[in-house]
Parts: sequence; structure tokens; C-alpha cells
Amino acid sequence: ERLPELLRAMPKAELHMHIEGSLEPELIFALAQRNGVAIPYASVEELRRAYAFTNLQSFLDIYYAGASVLLKEQDFYDMAWAYLERAAADNVVRTEMFFDPQTHTARGVPMETVVNGLHRACADAQPKLGVSAALILCFLRHLSEEEAFETLEQALPFRDKFIGVGLDSSEVGHPPEKFARVFARCRELGFHLVAHAGEEGPPAYVWSALDVLKVERVDHGVQSAKDPALMKRLAQDRIPLTVCPLSNLKLCVFPDLAQHNLGALLDAGLVATVNSDDPAYFGGYMNQNFTQTFAATGLDVQQAWQLAANSFEGSFIDAAAKRAYV
Ligand code: HPA
Ligand code: ZN
Repeated sequence: ERLPELLRAMPKAELHMHIEGSLEPELIFALAQRNGVAIPYASVEELRRAYAFTNLQSFLDIYYAGASVLLKEQDFYDMAWAYLERAAADNVVRTEMFFDPQTHTARGVPMETVVNGLHRACADAQPKLGVSAALILCFLRHLSEEEAFETLEQALPFRDKFIGVGLDSSEVGHPPEKFARVFARCRELGFHLVAHAGEEGPPAYVWSALDVLKVERVDHGVQSAKDPALMKRLAQDRIPLTVCPLSNLKLCVFPDLAQHNLGALLDAGLVATVNSDDPAYFGGYMNQNFTQTFAATGLDVQQAWQLAANSFEGSFIDAAAKRAYV
């Protein structure tokens, strides 16, 4: 009983959470009603029953459909605020939240509506909840390089409102190198760089995220365990992996939590972290990810502290603030 209590109580940073993936069915229905948007589900229960995924794509289809109720700046604020309250309850003191502007701009929602609503919630989080919150803009990798450049262009007037860029959506068939030039430009602009790689895709995608995109962190990265040379590289360069156990379970990346490789990643000396990915869809916010994973895999107290320390080491808070935690 002491370990779950420690897992819940310890201060932690969340480094891999898509804000659109925090949209709970109840809020989807409330926003649909507020905005007069039709959704093809009769009830909250019916929508929740559709959350039976077999792989990443089966999730993404329903995740993009859910986001279609977001139209006004206040909608983006309300969504982010609901997540930030949950994060505070889980003793998350720092969160670096992904957002997918192309999901919204493609529906005619202006970039400024998206960024201003999310950023206002982040700004309120420190004084009102004691949570330090920052935004990372993700490019959708199933779309083109040209569309990513257009999105970057649209976002640059708001460049002080996000700290980095990432790469998400359908991984297999859309390797990191598709976005080599976009990431090179973002690097020149001084943004932090991350990318999803090695969730369903092969170790080769993790290598190119590192060597072509020059990312500072790898999101998921669990397939790296298949490549000993890659494991050595990740350990030596202290590249954080933002692992999402319940996401991996729900998207069938691992057949059950007991077989998750988080323990193996830690044993290999990697800077692995625990994160919720899309908590409204995968059945758990941060503390549920911690408690369920520890219960299933038998990780211990020392590994709990290691994961908390890793989350701050891997975060983009400044070095002085980091030393207070690690
Ligand atoms: N992988 C890729 N794209 C995503 C995810 C994910 O886990 N969540 C939201 N978009
Ligand atoms: Zn993700």
C-alpha cells in the first residue's frame, strides 16, 4: 500500500500528453451542444464503447473525430483547463503539452484561436494550480512537408506561446526524414525538438529522429529495445524516452502490462519516463499510469524515484530549476 501512495504523492513532470487526447466524452458532448456540432454517437456511453482500439490508426480515426467539436477559443481553454486540474490532482508540477493545430486549421479554425485558448490555460495554471505548463506544436506526419511548413508559418506570430515542435499521427510509412527540412528550420528558430518514433515503427525511425531530425527526446521509443546499438546510443546520450504504458496497452503495442518493457529500459540505464499520452481515450491520467504499471510489472520504490527524477531531467525547464528536482 505504501508504493501506490508514493507513486501518487511524488512530484512529477508529464512530457507526453496530447491535449486533444484529454477531451473526455462528457466534454465532447457538452461542446457539441454548445457549438451546434453533430456527432455520430447517441450518448456518452455509446461514444465510450467505441474506444476499443486494435492499433494506432484505429485510435487516431476516433481521436480526430472527437476534436471536431472544438471551435472557439474558450473551447480550447476549457479542454486544457480540465486536463490541468487533473494533472494538479496527480501531483504533476510540470507538463509539456502537445497540440495538433492542423486538426483544427483544416476545419477552418484560426491558428490564433487554438494557440491563444491553450496558452491562456497554461498561463493560469501556475498561479491557480501550482502547475508549470508549456506547449509543444506537433506536425501531423500523415500530411505533407509543405503543409507542415505552412503550419509553421501560421504559428510563427505566436512563437512566444510554444516552446518546441513535435511529430505525431500515423507513424508507419511516414518516417522522420519526411520532415528533415521542417525540423532543420525549427532548430534554426530555436525551438525544442521532439518526435514520436518507435511506437509501432521500427528502430530505424528512432535512429532517424535522432540523426536526421536531431530531436532532444523520443516520444514512445519502446521499439528501441529491439536494437542493442540503439539502446547504447540512447543511454550514452541520455536521450529521454517518453513512455506511455496504458497507451501501449490500449493500442496493442504490448499484449498486457506485465509484458511492458519499461523495466528493461530502466535497467539498461535509459532516461525513461511515464506519461499518459491521450488520457481520456486510454483509461488513465498520470497516477493511473504509474500505479497500474507498477502493479503489473513489479517495479520498486527505487524505480519510482528514478522515474520521477527522469521526468524532470527530461523536461525543458531551465537547468537551475531542474537541479531542485533531480
Ligand atoms: N501516436 C501518434 N500520434 C498520436 C498519438 C500517439 O500515441 N496520440 C495522439 N496522436
Ligand atoms: Zn503520443
